Amino acid sequence: MKKYKVGVVGCTGMVGQRFITLMENHPWFQLTAIAASARSAGKTYEAAVSKRWKMDTPIPEEAKNLVIFDIDAQLDAFVSEIDFTFCAVDMDKEATRTLEERIAQKECPVVSNNSAHRFTPDVPMVVPEINPEHIKVIEYQKQRLGTQRGFIAVKSNCSLQSYVPALHPLREKFGVNKALVCTYQAISGAGKNFETWPEMMDNVIPYIGGEEEKSEQEPMKMWGTIENGVIVPATTPNITAQCLRVPVSNGHMAAVFVSLDQKTSVDEIKALWQNYKGRAQELDLPSAPKQFLHYFEDPSYPQTRLQRDLEGGMAISLGRLRSDSQYDYKFVGLSHNTLRGAAGGSVLLAEFLVAEGYIPYK
Ligand SMILES: NC(=O)c1ccc[n+]([C@@H]2O[C@H](COP(=O)([O-])OP(=O)(O)OC[C@H]3O[C@@H](n4cnc5c(N)ncnc54)[C@H](OP(=O)(O)O)[C@@H]3O)[C@@H](O)[C@H]2O)c1
Repeated sequence: MKKYKVGVVGCTGMVGQRFITLMENHPWFQLTAIAASARSAGKTYEAAVSKRWKMDTPIPEEAKNLVIFDIDAQLDAFVSEIDFTFCAVDMDKEATRTLEERIAQKECPVVSNNSAHRFTPDVPMVVPEINPEHIKVIEYQKQRLGTQRGFIAVKSNCSLQSYVPALHPLREKFGVNKALVCTYQAISGAGKNFETWPEMMDNVIPYIGGEEEKSEQEPMKMWGTIENGVIVPATTPNITAQCLRVPVSNGHMAAVFVSLDQKTSVDEIKALWQNYKGRAQELDLPSAPKQFLHYFEDPSYPQTRLQRDLEGGMAISLGRLRSDSQYDYKFVGLSHNTLRGAAGGSVLLAEFLVAEGYIPYK
């Protein structure tokens, strides 16, 4: 298969570095052009990131000598080299929205890790195992942008990946009327490690700005329906969330309480999770886990260090499902926040868009 030429905007950052490592040996995608701010522009990738490389594996050879574009000043040159781009930048929301639309209007599809467009009604926010049908809204978005092949698709916030995948089959089969979620989130979610954030050692911070709103509202868009060219958010279930920062390098955990519309049993829920397959598994996408939801019977599982890397960090680990005295059931979920929750989720989304014919070769 001829490989797609891929760009990464925000290539020097935490998520950008993860994109660069995920492109190494990717069967469909070839890293071709990289971009960041004027601060990094003109440098080779190696020169720009060698002192701030945060990945466990070395800088990929294919990236080392690529020269970084200034995405603002050299947008045309950047998009001329690629079929589509990933985007993960630390800019304010309005600037990010404008940048992503500028790229899309140059007829370059953008698969974004940023939150800026998550609530733009004609921008799909897709986890291929949960709401694959939302990519149909892209046709309407292209009409608004006046493009033939350029569009924006986004992935959801990292915190959601530990509980929405487990709630989704329950919602489909039994109906979910309410859920209470407490998330325990890794420091890499803030773009940090213990060297750059030593205050997090032996510490918990009970506040992550904006995270609880995202955790409560983004699932509603993902469970929404396309009506008149936009995604209309679902109105149920009612989700309430508390999000805490914990001293963990990678891996977000969620403690979840859920009430269902119809009665079921612990065994039926476990079987439902075990047998659940989404479009990513049906299409056998390169980054898709073979088994989306893994249930562990050992009551001390899932554990962050033991399960976060399951199936390349793309599977969801679940455990401790039992009845609850106030809600119907409670359980624990775990996902890798920078793989499934960030760059890995975006790569899977790009593979899905390619497989469904939304990203043609240029
Ligand atoms: N970390 C996570 O786990 C995670 C998870 C989900 C979503 N996200 C989201 O992903 C995005 C990136 O996060 P991050 O943790 O990777 O941030 P980061 O480590 O701070 O990296 C930010 C990147 O943005 C670039 N940038 C900053 N200002 C720019 C500008 N004016 N023009 C072009 N590029 C600019 C930086 O380039 P320079 O080096 O040239 O400054 C750098 O490449 C954010 O929207 C974040 O909310 C992060």
